[in-house]
Amino acid sequence: MVCLTGAMGTLLWIGLLMVSAGAGADMTLGGIFYEDDVDMQSAFNLSTRMYNFTSSMRTVQRGQILEVSEHVCDLVKEGLIGIIDGTGGRSSEHIQAVCDMLEVPHVLVQHNDLFTANWSILNLYPSGEAYNTALEKLIIHKGWQSFTVLYVKGHILGRVDNLFRLGNETSDMIVSVRELSGEDYRDVLIEAKESEFTNFVVDCPSQNIELVLNHSQQVGLLADEHSYIFLSPDLFTLDLTQYRYGGVNVTGFRLMDLKQNKKMWEYTADLNEETGQTREPEEIKTEVVLIHDAVKVFYEALKKVAVEPQELSCDNYDSWAYGSSLLNFMRTNKINGITRQLLFDGFGQRTNINLEIMELTPAGNQSVSIL
Ligand SMILES: *[C@@H]1O[C@H](CO)[C@@H](O)[C@H](O)[C@H]1NC(C)=O
Ligand SMILES: *[C@@H]1O[C@H](CO)[C@@H](O)[C@H](O)[C@H]1NC(C)=O
Ligand SMILES: *[C@@H]1O[C@H](CO)[C@@H](O)[C@H](O)[C@H]1NC(C)=O
Ligand SMILES: *[C@@H]1O[C@H](CO)[C@@H](O)[C@H](O)[C@H]1NC(C)=O
Ligand SMILES: *[C@@H]1O[C@H](CO)[C@@H](O)[C@H](O)[C@H]1NC(C)=O
Ligand SMILES: *[C@@H]1O[C@H](CO)[C@@H](O)[C@H](O)[C@H]1NC(C)=O
Ligand SMILES: *[C@@H]1O[C@H](CO)[C@@H](O)[C@H](O)[C@H]1NC(C)=O
Repeated sequence: MVCLTGAMGTLLWIGLLMVSAGAGADMTLGGIFYEDDVDMQSAFNLSTRMYNFTSSMRTVQRGQILEVSEHVCDLVKEGLIGIIDGTGGRSSEHIQAVCDMLEVPHVLVQHNDLFTANWSILNLYPSGEAYNTALEKLIIHKGWQSFTVLYVKGHILGRVDNLFRLGNETSDMIVSVRELSGEDYRDVLIEAKESEFTNFVVDCPSQNIELVLNHSQQVGLLADEHSYIFLSPDLFTLDLTQYRYGGVNVTGFRLMDLKQNKKMWEYTADLNEETGQTREPEEIKTEVVLIHDAVKVFYEALKKVAVEPQELSCDNYDSWAYGSSLLNFMRTNKINGITRQLLFDGFGQRTNINLEIMELTPAGNQSVSIL
């Protein structure tokens, strides 16, 4: 309502009234999630309600990627102001293609480097670049002379680019890379053990962490001499007690500050009420918290820009007149979420973040520093 800064008092008053009612009311946010990601669905229901949005959700089965585009086309008929995408990977690529055509903001909450330069994206998950910087600092700080990057197939190595640079011809550092594939990582881990590397950087989705730790333990790679860095910010949402006494040091990241984060405690309580569970704040997965922050990004942007939802059709090659300006406000509006400051670069990537470094050592777990 910037246009109403004139001298006309009554008009100004009407303008403000419209803003306060318009921030969430009558605006519909779309959500697309995998059927079995019930936590993210609950987070979406809860967060949209919290900010007075109407919500419209579609769920898809894993592996049914082609259905995803139909769901998007179905959703946009309702006149959405944006889509929050909890699926990730190839599925997000399909959603992006439709959102791009229709100029509907597409918001991601997971690591994804399939694309960067397309305008209709905003990703709340820390970018590869942010990770690269933090990792490089951490490895130099640890004084590692050699390490092995273990990554799960399908997880792209964009997050560890800088690490390969560390192992260039002019440096003494030795970097090796191994892929973990299938359901059984033990053969690969045994090979890694035989090559006598003791330091590992693990890039895998949060649902694979336990298997990596489990199989490492089984092949004897979690002893005194071993050290791990897990890229997933969800490492410390798991119960790591059983790995603690083997002697291994495991380092991980956390995106939210749990110590003085009243919003996180409240959100956890609300989520528990929504799901009937009894989780502690430290057990909540990052993506579930990012759903809240994604909804808040929409809410705060709508305080600054007036939009009119429009029913769109994929068949008519429609596009939403307000989409690019809304997304622009979302990218440049400096606000705080539960995961601290939400700052984005020109590509809608979250490059400027604070990561808390957490360590599990035989002495227990501790927050080490914030990078
Ligand atoms: C989310 O809300 C929709 C619509 O009210 C409902 O059908 C669905 O069961 C809810 N999902 C969860 C996981 O609470
Ligand atoms: C949502 O609407 C209610 C009732 O109109 C209002 O009290 C509340 O402040 C609104 N919440 C937000 C986040 O705007
Ligand atoms: C992103 O934009 C580029 C160039 O504009 C285009 O070729 C590509 O298909 C787009 N990617 C997606 C996922 O839409
Ligand atoms: C090579 O590695 C050294 C030591 O890590 C680093 O200082 C230097 O910048 C690297 N050189 C290149 C070209 O990446
Ligand atoms: C880890 O290994 C134990 C046996 O050593 C097994 O009982 C357990 O189910 C495994 N957990 C996972 C997540 O693979
Ligand atoms: C593990 O961490 C402890 C405490 O930070 C440190 O003293 C020890 O050297 C570390 N061990 C390895 C193998 O990195
Ligand atoms: C790590 O810290 C949390 C919170 O301080 C605690 O609940 C948990 O039991 C600790 N885990 C281990 C393995 O010490």
